[in-house]
Amino acid sequence: MGYVGPRDARDVVLEGLRRLEYRGYDSAGIAVVADGTLTSAKKAGKLANLEKVLADQPLPAATIGIGHTRWATHGGPTDRNAHPHLSADGTVAVIHNGIIENFAVLRAECESSGVEFTSDTDTEVTAHLLAAAYTALPEGPGRLAEAMRTVSRRLEGAFTLVATCVAEPDTVVASRRSSPLVVGVGDGEYFLGSDVAAFIGHTREALELGQDQVVEIDRTRGVTVTDFHGATVQPTAYTVDWDAEAAEKGGYDWFMLKEIAEQPRAIADTLLGRLGANGGLVLDEVRLSDQELRDIDKIFVVSCGTSFHAGLIAKYAIEHWTRIPVEVELASEFRYRDPVLDRSTLVVVISQSGETMDTLMALRHARDQKARVLAICNANGSTIPRESDAVLYTHAGPEVAVASTKGFLTQIVACYLVGLFLAQVRGVKYEDEVAAIVADLRRLPDAVAEVLAGMDAVRELARELADANTILFLGRHVGYPVALEGALKLKELAYIHAEGFAAGELKHGPIAVVDQGTPVIVVVPSPNSRESVHGKVVSNIQEVRARGARTIVIAEEGDEAVVPFADHLIRVPRLPTLLAPVVTVVPLQVLACEIADTRGLDVDQPRNLAKSVTVE
Ligand code: M6R
Repeated sequence: MGYVGPRDARDVVLEGLRRLEYRGYDSAGIAVVADGTLTSAKKAGKLANLEKVLADQPLPAATIGIGHTRWATHGGPTDRNAHPHLSADGTVAVIHNGIIENFAVLRAECESSGVEFTSDTDTEVTAHLLAAAYTALPEGPGRLAEAMRTVSRRLEGAFTLVATCVAEPDTVVASRRSSPLVVGVGDGEYFLGSDVAAFIGHTREALELGQDQVVEIDRTRGVTVTDFHGATVQPTAYTVDWDAEAAEKGGYDWFMLKEIAEQPRAIADTLLGRLGANGGLVLDEVRLSDQELRDIDKIFVVSCGTSFHAGLIAKYAIEHWTRIPVEVELASEFRYRDPVLDRSTLVVVISQSGETMDTLMALRHARDQKARVLAICNANGSTIPRESDAVLYTHAGPEVAVASTKGFLTQIVACYLVGLFLAQVRGVKYEDEVAAIVADLRRLPDAVAEVLAGMDAVRELARELADANTILFLGRHVGYPVALEGALKLKELAYIHAEGFAAGELKHGPIAVVDQGTPVIVVVPSPNSRESVHGKVVSNIQEVRARGARTIVIAEEGDEAVVPFADHLIRVPRLPTLLAPVVTVVPLQVLACEIADTRGLDVDQPRNLAKSVTVE
């Protein structure tokens, strides 16, 4: 977070950090320049710890400031490793996201010229280098920005750096390579933030920054953007389509509960304007020509975490509707195995934040290999859509809780849209077939609302399961990714060991861990699903029950076959098989959230996790 303007920078920066808390962090700090002095404060732990320090030793009122919440990479989450880092002479303060990969060489260089380091971070080296570069430059406007360009050219890795300097009390300068950074433009005031949440309380006008760019925000000169060599760049301006209220809890105990409740609206917004009146799809924003879409002969879906689970669900729908082979890959693995890609390959990258470094690197690899990249993304102005050939935005609104919920459901819906649009453009489905699926998509918001209305029993169940040591999740066909997602949610929120299995794999090993009382949650496919998958899963329920499992069964309305074998039965509305994950996952989101709450844990900011993983 950076600020230049007439208000008290201390308040603006701390408020910005509070709004960015959701991204996950383990220390925080702030620096301001006032009356010819640069002062800073930093502390390990949550922002409240920093605020205590500031209450004891207040910083002076100031009109420029920078602030940071750090998620430790190099060096533990201690006071000394917290940002900002100051140059040895105390004239320059720097905050940093990302990893400086060549920091060891640069550190040795600084040490050989007598600099003593005071932290274990990769970041500190940039403060010393900036001070040295600044001193070497002639006096004049834009000197800090020029020093930033000089230093940035020497850095390897991913970074957003934000710096302030005692000699330029009206200026904050930043630099970005592969890590997120956006500029907020207010009335006579300017902001920098990892995302727009940092300044949404003050302005909705934002500027996107590109790769390898330096931005200066200055009280009189305004915003200047250049590349690392000083050539002026015109940034892309956009207006954020949500306001500060959208990022408030709105009466809920947790952001996650609010975001779960928002899912019907988020799905409706994601469908809005994309379902044509004649029953077809209208995806004008997908900037790929019909010919390019017809030329595709292979699809990769690449993503991480929960977004990866959306990709697994996408595979079933896209292959079924288009008959194009689809492979789903973890972004962190994708480029390292040298996948076969060419001009007729479509790579669909899915990312709620649009900033996940693994996914970004996978997309760059795909584009280097001449594949077409289509991003499914929620965060407007983020890096992944900017670097993709085409983008389909989900309209979930800001997702603040670290655990993705409405982001996930809208990703699944966006994947359906992509699959169906491909089928429509390629003419592999008759118009009435597309129209029938579109009609089913229109039912999704109400179907999710119906599930949400019946969650009291799940809350009760959460209290019963809160002390479990391990919980298993089984699913088959599209229920398998749902099982994986249910297990991930439980792990990340409740810190309970949980595993998702393909139900058919049970007898090939996992059944050995089932013991007396082991909770096993089973996502049951529709009795109308193909090739008696339903019957096989019902058999799986009996198999685990026979070995002592406590069975928790998620099944559609009217499925009576499961009743005798379910210790707990959770009903969901009937939907076509491929669309069922949109409703079957909802009870699992609620369950994980409620178990974590019952265990007294921080549901919105689970330990060790960051909302947006911007390092590889
Ligand atoms: O922003 P992204 O969708 O790229 O994030 C991917 C994962 O980091 C994310 O889904 C993560 O698994 C969440 N904690 C899931 O709740």
